[in-house]
Amino acid sequence: DGAPGSGLMLIGEAPGAEEDRLGRPFVGQSGQLLDRMFASIGIRREDGGFYITNILPWRPPGNRTPTDAEIALFLPFVLRHIALARPRHLVLLGGVSAKTLLRAKDGITRLRGRWHRVAIEGLGEVPALATLHPAYLLRTPAAKRDAWADLLMLRRTLDASSQES
Ligand code: URA
Repeated sequence: DGAPGSGLMLIGEAPGAEEDRLGRPFVGQSGQLLDRMFASIGIRREDGGFYITNILPWRPPGNRTPTDAEIALFLPFVLRHIALARPRHLVLLGGVSAKTLLRAKDGITRLRGRWHRVAIEGLGEVPALATLHPAYLLRTPAAKRDAWADLLMLRRTLDASSQES
């Protein structure tokens, strides 16, 4: 969903029930929080501010966490999707997205809040910011403080890179 050419690509975990029904990522409760968070730094999905997808295109039964086998199955498609969208920056939403694309063992609490790099065939190394998943923020409102720090970091980086170009 969103604008493939926006330069900013967000990657979540897997569709929830609402997303499955509508065939669009992040349209349920956590998607609404995500949209409000990004709007607070001036980036609006409805204005083509970002492009957004998930590691898994389908909802795992009962909304369980995707298995390693499911993730491995879809990873080539996600990497190709990124290669085609050619984003200048990636935002990895939550542990599944961050661990998968950064090929990291650490959890999201260790990965969040800093820029990493993801090597994409035909595109090179794309800067990727790992942050907390909005569904986690709905369950753990105290963590919004960290998410806000990550958003400010994203805003600063986007501002600096738009001055460069
Ligand atoms: N959570 C996700 O990771 N993706 C969605 O599309 C919705 C909720």
